[in-house]
Amino acid sequence: MRIGVVGLGYVGLTLAIVAASRGAEIFGTEINPKIKASLAENRAHFFEPGLDDLIAKHNRKNFHCIDKFHTPPLEPFNAFIITVGTPLYPNSSKPNFEAISTAIESLLPAYDGSQLVIIRSTVSVGTTRKVVLPLLSKLSGKPEEELFVSMCPERTVEGKALQELKTLPQIISGNNQSAIDMARRLFEKITPHVIEAKSLEEAELAKLYCNTYRDMNFSIGNAFCLAAQTFGVDGASVIRLANEGYSRAKIALPGFVAGPCLEKDAYILTDNMPDCASKNFILAARNISESLEDLVVDWVRRHVDTVKPLTLTGMAFKGRPETSDLRGSSSVNIARKLFAAGYKLRLHDFVASVEDLEGLQLGAVFTDLSAACEGAAALLVLNNHERYERLQLPESLAVLDTWSVCKQIKSAATLGNFLLEEGTTCAG
Ligand SMILES: NC(=O)c1ccc[n+]([C@@H]2O[C@H](COP(=O)([O-])OP(=O)(O)OC[C@H]3O[C@@H](n4cnc5c(N)ncnc54)[C@H](O)[C@@H]3O)[C@@H](O)[C@H]2O)c1
Repeated sequence: MRIGVVGLGYVGLTLAIVAASRGAEIFGTEINPKIKASLAENRAHFFEPGLDDLIAKHNRKNFHCIDKFHTPPLEPFNAFIITVGTPLYPNSSKPNFEAISTAIESLLPAYDGSQLVIIRSTVSVGTTRKVVLPLLSKLSGKPEEELFVSMCPERTVEGKALQELKTLPQIISGNNQSAIDMARRLFEKITPHVIEAKSLEEAELAKLYCNTYRDMNFSIGNAFCLAAQTFGVDGASVIRLANEGYSRAKIALPGFVAGPCLEKDAYILTDNMPDCASKNFILAARNISESLEDLVVDWVRRHVDTVKPLTLTGMAFKGRPETSDLRGSSSVNIARKLFAAGYKLRLHDFVASVEDLEGLQLGAVFTDLSAACEGAAALLVLNNHERYERLQLPESLAVLDTWSVCKQIKSAATLGNFLLEEGTTCAG
């Protein structure tokens, strides 16, 4: 199979390389010169276990990063997969799908309406039918009924993407049976478990439900944690107590609910949903988890002045599985707010690159955590990387251990108890 992939980010690159490892011939386009430069050196621009080895094996053999699709290609493409980003507009909860239209327009020299076009990016319900299909019809000059479009969402988790691409059930859908059959043939080469959605919309919605369900589950833990503290009870401790040996309670422990997907997918789901109780419920859950960021900033304001530096570690959006990804990270949002409030920040992360941390322009970047803590007023541990479990620091340093991972630092404040002070109330 000859497949064109538009966008070699987290989703596009992992899928392209796994498909190449299963024998497909992949031609991927990418507009970011940094990504192209790292691929030229057989490296991904992000950390994903096992990915660099596979890139080295397939690059310039059956995986090619090209500038654009040409007319005519050496041989015709069987399918195109669109994997571009669908972020929110800055300082807004409105999704921006402009990259999808641009990506589709980029197919034109090689697209004649006979190939399958797969939407892999996360989109609002109805986007594949109401935006993608008409655009493909305009580009190819063929009526929509004669085209083949499929929505096949990506559901892997960063840090385990290569393994999950080959094991997770792959949802497929199509605007007609031929599109579904073409998508099935493609994905059956990658994973043994392919499941058919009844419509394009069902596939779009299933993806949004997977992420929003996670988002809301974590939000319940955060809501319960904050509520417990209004009664003077440690929020994490009571959740552990409720869960222990009781299989009907699986309440999440408190923590940030962030990253490039969870920060936005509830907004993508609700964007074109009519006002209703369900929409309010989904957005209220999002709001609870987002409120943690401001509460952490308030904790800092109460405990630390702006004279001495303040150390923030765990800048990537999660620590387990470990990732270098800073996108949608609550740690970065908190750092931005503290920087704006006049704090002198020191930034550290076990996985994110110095270049990416420096690119934030929020403070001095340290590769050694002990050095970053020397002379600092306080330390904020902002993700749950397992190396924090062994971290030892002088008792005099104030620590907010937001994920309760610092097993050796008994005096640390945590999200479970950080509001247990006179005059502090539950926000959100
Ligand atoms: N990151 C994840 O783990 C994950 C998981 C499931 C679903 N998703 C969804 O998948 C989509 C992609 O996510 P991502 O994390 O890979 O985003 P990303 O930003 O890492 O990757 C998208 C890439 O597309 C490139 N691009 C944009 N327009 C282009 C064009 N016209 N031609 C060529 N390249 C172009 C960008 O430069 C970027 O590198 C999003 O909708 C996201 O919500 C992401």
